[in-house]
Amino acid sequence: MGDEHKLLSGKVAMITGASSGIGAAAARLFADEGAAVVLMARRAERLAELVESIRGGGGRAAAVAGDVRVAGDVARAVGTAVDTFGKLDAAFNNAGYGTAGVPLHEMDAQTYDRTMDVNVRGVWNCLFHQIPAMLDSGSGGAVVNTSSVAGLKATGASAAYVASKHAVIGLTRAAAYDYGRRGVRVNALVVGATRSEMMDGVIAQLPELEEVFLSDSLQRRMSRPDEVAQAAAWLCSDRSSFVTGSAMAVDGGSTAV
Ligand SMILES: NC(=O)c1ccc[n+]([C@@H]2O[C@H](COP(=O)([O-])OP(=O)(O)OC[C@H]3O[C@@H](n4cnc5c(N)ncnc54)[C@H](O)[C@@H]3O)[C@@H](O)[C@H]2O)c1
Repeated sequence: MGDEHKLLSGKVAMITGASSGIGAAAARLFADEGAAVVLMARRAERLAELVESIRGGGGRAAAVAGDVRVAGDVARAVGTAVDTFGKLDAAFNNAGYGTAGVPLHEMDAQTYDRTMDVNVRGVWNCLFHQIPAMLDSGSGGAVVNTSSVAGLKATGASAAYVASKHAVIGLTRAAAYDYGRRGVRVNALVVGATRSEMMDGVIAQLPELEEVFLSDSLQRRMSRPDEVAQAAAWLCSDRSSFVTGSAMAVDGGSTAV
């Protein structure tokens, strides 16, 4: 298949939380599907390795080491997309932080603050800087924000995470409302249990949760990061042109029952 027929041919996409898990899988997939990618995460070496491997495979990629909580870092990543690749068409706002196993009244204020800062302010910072770049391009754009099953329902002993992922869906709908007529689509992914560093950390702390996650899924398994990345790629592509304001489940059916 010629490069021009790939899912994301000609697109420039920014991906946050790109150093591991779902974000790293999306970085590889988006590049394979023809996008130039700007990868943002805090771990510079990991990003550099990923960029090198994408370029080695003939793809186009740039890295910006930074923290989504810092508006200036996010602005730098958007600026890199525009300066290096000429525009910003798509964004996968995927960086996230979560803990589980602590009931609300025992959660310390720092954990609450960090969870809300990364998951809510981080997505806010991204929307704030990405949307003007997409409006400036004259051809609109597509944003995908990573929420979670915890964005639609409570999961045990993780109140701050649940609140933050509900907020991600709220931000998604609000932005879709405000920019729909101006050609910017905004969607959220309701991600189910996925094998990643975050999941490994949760299971190391609370091994009994593994069985809960497996039995929640109608497929009795967890997702692979690349299965979530596939949904993000489609939502960032022109093939989802009438999809906006949605919270799309990629959860093995766990919110269906
Ligand atoms: N793994 C799951 O089961 C699961 C389920 C539902 C939702 N999610 C969500 O998926 C997203 C990706 O998580 P993952 O499972 O791939 O885990 P992961 O730990 O492998 O990846 C998280 C990424 O976010 C980055 N990150 C964290 N804080 C950051 C910050 N302040 N600034 C920039 N980058 C930051 C990390 O460096 C990492 O690259 C998160 O938003 C997470 O909440 C994961």
